[in-house]
Amino acid sequence: MKKNSKTAALIFLASLVAAFAILLASIIKNNAYNAVEHRASFSRERLFSGDAARSEEVAVIASARNSTWSKAFDFFNEGITEHNYQAYTIDFTVANHTGDEVEDFSFRLTFDQDAYLASAWNGSLEIHQLSGGEIVDTVPDLREFVPENHILATFSVDGETMVAMKPGDYLIYNPSTSMNAMEMPIEPMEATTPGFIMYMAIGAPIEGLEVELDYTFHRALTREPLFWVSMIILAVWLVAIINFGITSAQIRKYNIRHERDNEIINESIETFTGFIDAKDPYTNGHSKRVATYTKRIAKEFGYDGEALDRIYYVALLHDCGKIGVPDNILGKPGRLTNEEFQVIKSHTVRGGEILSSFKSLNNVGEGALYHHERYDGNGYPSGKAGEEIPFIARMICVADSFDAMNTNRVYRDKRTKEHILEEIESNRGRQFDPQIADVMLGLIRSGQIKAGE
Ligand SMILES: [Fe+2]
Repeated sequence: MKKNSKTAALIFLASLVAAFAILLASIIKNNAYNAVEHRASFSRERLFSGDAARSEEVAVIASARNSTWSKAFDFFNEGITEHNYQAYTIDFTVANHTGDEVEDFSFRLTFDQDAYLASAWNGSLEIHQLSGGEIVDTVPDLREFVPENHILATFSVDGETMVAMKPGDYLIYNPSTSMNAMEMPIEPMEATTPGFIMYMAIGAPIEGLEVELDYTFHRALTREPLFWVSMIILAVWLVAIINFGITSAQIRKYNIRHERDNEIINESIETFTGFIDAKDPYTNGHSKRVATYTKRIAKEFGYDGEALDRIYYVALLHDCGKIGVPDNILGKPGRLTNEEFQVIKSHTVRGGEILSSFKSLNNVGEGALYHHERYDGNGYPSGKAGEEIPFIARMICVADSFDAMNTNRVYRDKRTKEHILEEIESNRGRQFDPQIADVMLGLIRSGQIKAGE
């Protein structure tokens, strides 16, 4: 029992540790996944058609709205009035095709031709102009661009100032997280669309723009399979521990009741055997002593637990048939007549009959019925021999005879240890089962059963 509960405690502890280890592993794995910085490049068809980019986890798809207006860009004040530049409104849709949040992104837009940035929405721009030594300047919101506050190369047309981008120049778009823009994070299967208005020469192809996208994911821990493995183990663990608690409480309750029941049975039987022993004043306490010796012998044969308890009770009741023997015969100090001796002998059969209604202890009557049988077949009541006699009755026979020799009787004193040993030795295989006799001899010789003291 103790060993079992120790094993159970170890299993509980081990499974708890395992659950937390898996949980920790899922957190580490998730954090590692979220820490990875991703980069993807888009240009030409991949950037503008969108088809090729749909298979990407996160993709940028550019689309230019139809040009609606144009202006005359007179770079050298030559009086040019013909419209030579047109405005493009280009949306750069950053699409998240995954089940995870895109926590952070920025992209670098590189120009392959002259372009003039008129407007952009939401995010801020870090502009890199490379010609004539690199100029780097950040414009938080191009819609509120004030040229005097910046060092950037610009160009004005019709009172509108635009940022001039040459081939090779680039900008880094950092999205806005403001409540209005909410470009970040990008929810699973959602997209955000920053856009630009820029002027480019009429007829110039716009497909030469290049976008390089940097992003990181924020995967929720609940999307991590290991997380659920640990949760399931924890749930099972919790159910098991609750169950264990309830079962333990029930077992404790049952054990207490079982112990009390055992006490009641024990005391009832001992009280009853007390009546029997009281009828025979010369053998006071005989039943209990015989039961104790029998139990001690049985232990040597490997009996334990409930089987041993049963042996004790069967032995305790071995003389219960004496309840039907008249007191004058049982307590007669002198020699018994043949008839009287027959009455005494009948206590075995009477005992068997009395105990036949005692169903809760298996074969409880066989001790009473057969304890006066002899191994050589010359006993009573049925003259059974050897292994025909139930083993328990053979053990009681040795214990019973030993107690008779080891107690004072009215007609004689108890025997000496040597005498008892000799007596058992000489009846080995005659009255007694030789194996049981040997065990008894061993117990007496080693002092485990006291004799003649
Ligand atoms: Fe007896």
